[in-house]
Amino acid sequence: MADLTALTRQALEEVARSTDLAALEETRVRWLGKKGTLTERLKSLGALSAAERPAAGALINEAKERLQAAIEARRETLGREEIERRLGAGRIDVTLPGRGEELGGLHPVTKARLRIETLFRRAGFDVASGPEIEDDFHNFGALNFTPDHPARAMHDTFYFPDGRLLRTHTSPVQIRALRERGAPLAVIAPGRVYRCDSDMTHSPMFHQLEGLAVGENINFANMKAVLHGFLQAFFERDLAMRLRPSFFPFTEPSAEVDMSCVFCDGKGCRTCKHTGWLEISGCGMVHPNVLRASGVDPERYTGYAFGAGIDRLAMLRYGVNDLRLFFENDLRFLRQFGSFGA
Ligand code: FA5
Ligand code: MG
Repeated sequence: MADLTALTRQALEEVARSTDLAALEETRVRWLGKKGTLTERLKSLGALSAAERPAAGALINEAKERLQAAIEARRETLGREEIERRLGAGRIDVTLPGRGEELGGLHPVTKARLRIETLFRRAGFDVASGPEIEDDFHNFGALNFTPDHPARAMHDTFYFPDGRLLRTHTSPVQIRALRERGAPLAVIAPGRVYRCDSDMTHSPMFHQLEGLAVGENINFANMKAVLHGFLQAFFERDLAMRLRPSFFPFTEPSAEVDMSCVFCDGKGCRTCKHTGWLEISGCGMVHPNVLRASGVDPERYTGYAFGAGIDRLAMLRYGVNDLRLFFENDLRFLRQFGSFGA
């Protein structure tokens, strides 16, 4: 049994030299496995005499236990080192500056549109829509523009070779909504419209807000109240509003809606060209021919309609003096509207 001490020392040294878990496992198998050195020693006890056997057995078992404990301790150390190593490799330097991701924001025209939709929904209106590529019937014919009506030329229409066109106003949605839903109804239809037109206050693509209410007792005074209420809610202040006689083929009577200038409170400034008033929308009572073209009985139903410029409303609310800024996508301009609020 003299060499048992040397063997144990050798085994313990090998355990200490095992630098990873796989090597440690190999060491364990070499010493304590089924054919391991110490295991073989235990098996060879049979060759000893009955007198020698107990003492020798006790020594071998003691050596085995020492070795097992050493392997266990080494396994724990190596496991901890392994975790440390992996954590170290993936270490994040929290002192580095961030990547600077920026939160996007809504375009001011979108903000104005969403605000308009909320206000009209609250007043009982549905939000309707129609295609931007229209046909002559919806954009003109059903809206009481006769084929040679001079107002067609006023609209500076973009035509496609097949005779279809880019809608010049949102009024065709009046026809579509009435034909789809019938009377009575109250809808608004915000959307893009197109005209061959471009300067400080005109852009070839702009946004309109159509409004339409048709029912058995709808009158001009209802329209005036709804428009005035909307403007005061939209601009969050008391405003004067007036109606001026005007003409549209699809309304009779027709009017232009003016509101007191939000920049000078009606006193007169550059924005309102020193008149104190800003033109904001066309409006009127729906022409009987329009109701008829939409399958609605004009003897039973009346209605009002209006068409306002959303970009104009957005310019006034956010204090923007050139319409074209809305469509140039200059981030320095757009960032000023930053948030998702109204
Ligand atoms: C119309 O387009 C009628 N459909 C409005 C209407 C609807 C009247 C329902 C009666 C009943 P008008 O062409 O005036 O009307 O345009 C309405 C508004 O759109 C104008 O007051 C103006 O605010 C805006 N607008 C017109 N042209 C441009 C343009 N090129 N760029 C920006 N806004 C414009
Ligand atoms: Mg006009």
